[in-house]
Amino acid sequence: MSTVRSDALVLFGVTGDLAHKKIFPALYAMAKHGTLTVPVVGVASSELTDAQLRKRAEAAIREAGPIDDREALRHTVKSLRYVQGNYNDLGTFTKIKKALGKARRPVHYLAIPPVLFPKVIESLGATSLAKDARVIVEKPFGRDLASARSLNRIARSVFPEDAIFRIDHFLAKEAIMNILYLRFANSFLEPIWNRNYVASVQVTLAESFGVEGRGAFYETAGCLRDVIQNHLFQVVALLAMEPPTYRSFGAVHGETADILQAMRPLVPDDVVRGQYAGYRKEPGVAKNSDVETFCALRLFIDSWRWSGVPFYLRSGKALADTAAEVIVQLKAPPQRLFEDSAMVPRDADYFRFRLQPNSAIALAVRVKRTGKEFVGDRKELVLIDERPNEESPYERLLGDAMDGNGALFTREDAVEAAWAVVDPVLEHHHRARPYRRGSWGPKEADALIAADGGWRNPGRTS
Ligand code: BG6
Repeated sequence: MSTVRSDALVLFGVTGDLAHKKIFPALYAMAKHGTLTVPVVGVASSELTDAQLRKRAEAAIREAGPIDDREALRHTVKSLRYVQGNYNDLGTFTKIKKALGKARRPVHYLAIPPVLFPKVIESLGATSLAKDARVIVEKPFGRDLASARSLNRIARSVFPEDAIFRIDHFLAKEAIMNILYLRFANSFLEPIWNRNYVASVQVTLAESFGVEGRGAFYETAGCLRDVIQNHLFQVVALLAMEPPTYRSFGAVHGETADILQAMRPLVPDDVVRGQYAGYRKEPGVAKNSDVETFCALRLFIDSWRWSGVPFYLRSGKALADTAAEVIVQLKAPPQRLFEDSAMVPRDADYFRFRLQPNSAIALAVRVKRTGKEFVGDRKELVLIDERPNEESPYERLLGDAMDGNGALFTREDAVEAAWAVVDPVLEHHHRARPYRRGSWGPKEADALIAADGGWRNPGRTS
């Protein structure tokens, strides 16, 4: 695997939402940390001058937060050049080549609608822009199993696997990396991390905002494709994987891919889809849209370790809060020795991983209250609870891809395995149920998990 640093960044989709919200701020952060040392060539179809692009970038960076390093801001915008062009026209790629000047090892970042990925990748190959280059592909990687396979085939026909960087930015979040660390940097978890002690697992990714101008994109995706098939499945894979057998991210990739392969393909009754009231009035959304802005599902992993343990996942827009949390619910003790012993898992011990907006890990256990009686309370032992001043996932991933480090990216087989799980319900599903903005989704989602004690809503964030 080559680890020679890329010498330019080509940003396809430079006028898009992702560039605006995440990539420009990440470039600014890199500039502050002295790691933005290459030219950035932005590509899009709008008529813009270099100066106009720089203005847009500056506005995006200012929107993301206060400017605390004017020199870094100046450096970021100065690194930008613009190439206007149509992705279907090979001439665009010739212009990119020209704009790259002396750079010989660019990294191409495809922050564009997924339907354009194949065309752009093929054109990079046809114009020798793929030589000694790398490619970063934004999610969703494909829109079902067949398109993901075809995209992988096209990408592999132009780039070697170690030059393809499939982004799932959740993998670069501090709290999510901590799942891997906590599980395997300690030995006390391993004996109980299985069907003998774990009753169920639930993962919630809630957002209080709606689709916010991304209606047209959302109509082609929906919640299952947008965040569950990728972000939440990756979280489940880290929670459920077997220990890697050696010290390398290659081993981690192998184990996470195996877990995704062991997930049972979903059936319609395992999935509840919801749509918030008012979604159909969002710009770009069809008046009779059945696209889901909320999705809850029950998932099983058919492995020795997890057989029979349900994994409940849910995510949605316009919910009551913006927070993400995992609850690993342990079983109740087998005998009721105290009046207030937990009888059902819901009242028993659990591990809690808060993923957003803060990063927390807690273990809830019962402890005796002072006094003559053998009664107690469930208390959380909080191992960590902080809002780390972390490198943004995009800063980290951009830097890693430029260095040829694929540790926090997803592998071809893992992406396809994840699609294979959701593929049966992408077209065949129950209708999306309406839910109120600011609620926790449709009531049918509560019924899905009722047998396992219901959802535990993440504690309110301030
Ligand atoms: C993106 C989805 O991948 O992840 C968005 O397209 C979602 O719909 C976002 O809001 C959540 O990630 P983060 O890091 O912004 O919380």
